[in-house]
Amino acid sequence: MDSDVNPEPLLQIEELRVEFPTASGTVEAVSGVSFAVAANQTVAVVGESGSGKSVTALAVLRLLDGGRISGGRVLWDGRDLAELDGRGMRRIRGDEIAMIFQDPMTSLDPLYSVGHQVVEAIRLHRRISKRAARERAVELLDQVGIPDARSRIDAYPHQLSGGQRQRVMIAMALACSPRLLIADEPTTALDVTIEAQVLEVLRTVQREYSTALLLVTHDMGVVAETADWVVVFYAGQVVEQGPTAQVLGDPRHPYSAALLAAVPTPTTDKSLPLAAIPGAVPSLHETPTGCRFHPRCPHAWDECASTVPELYELSGGRTSRCLLQRDARGAAAVVAVGRESA
Ligand SMILES: Nc1ncnc2c1ncn2[C@@H]1O[C@H](COP(=O)(O)OP(=O)(O)O)[C@@H](O)[C@H]1O
Ligand SMILES: [Mg+2]
Repeated sequence: MDSDVNPEPLLQIEELRVEFPTASGTVEAVSGVSFAVAANQTVAVVGESGSGKSVTALAVLRLLDGGRISGGRVLWDGRDLAELDGRGMRRIRGDEIAMIFQDPMTSLDPLYSVGHQVVEAIRLHRRISKRAARERAVELLDQVGIPDARSRIDAYPHQLSGGQRQRVMIAMALACSPRLLIADEPTTALDVTIEAQVLEVLRTVQREYSTALLLVTHDMGVVAETADWVVVFYAGQVVEQGPTAQVLGDPRHPYSAALLAAVPTPTTDKSLPLAAIPGAVPSLHETPTGCRFHPRCPHAWDECASTVPELYELSGGRTSRCLLQRDARGAAAVVAVGRESA
């Protein structure tokens, strides 16, 4: 689905803040993040390791380990998820939003066959016989590309390859026919060929099940191949978001540009070292003043160290948190999208 402006949102994250208590004080891992996912849409959240992608995804499902939502809200189908009790939240997690993680081994139980686990997932959501659930499990495993699903269904997780385990996780996630699938770096542990296959499975099931997909990744190549809309995270904030083709074709935040420059292309000279972004994501204890990216930014000037950039609106519903955009002709601060402070 190509869209210039994000259509009616299914999931809407508004000014989300998440903090964790640590031995050396409270740290804020997510600092006022806003973005939305519409029905059937694929939104990619991209950014270096430690930028708050997983914490944001976990906050949506209220699966924060020791952390707490300290600001903002998460709307699901227009409803504030904070108003749900534990039971209501479990229902959303099971029936409406499913999540798959980077390492399927941590989510699959080594003691049970994959079939048993898929059957259990199905029966958790639907009152059907074991036999019917098993038939459905075979069907799901077949759909996610497990060869010879009818016999592989009795295999144990350790008997499957990493790619096949991730396919099983996708099958389990589909067991409840979710309206939104959150996939947190689902292919990071896989080699490139298998990664491409698993992404293809995700795209296929998304089409067939009309599921929205929130794909967390640190790989711009994956974004290019998969997403309608891309949200670029840096140090707990959204620094740029917009339609994938526009953001990738013409990045307006120096951080997005740097991430893209680090992606190898077919014409990249393989004898040269990969371009990397100099410096590192700042520690949560030492968030830079002004623009959080300024210490690493090739375009930074004096003001960038003191003035906190807002999200400035560009055409096509895009936004960029960079003073260059403020100064560009016609750009206006986006009040509705968020005045996220540092
Ligand atoms: N349970 C936790 N306790 C303290 N800090 C955490 C916890 N989980 C995540 N963080 C911190 O929050 C920041 C964002 O983490 P995360 O969302 O996992 O990043 P990523 O973008 O790589 O998914 C990191 O600095 C991480 O150390
Ligand atoms: Mg992560």
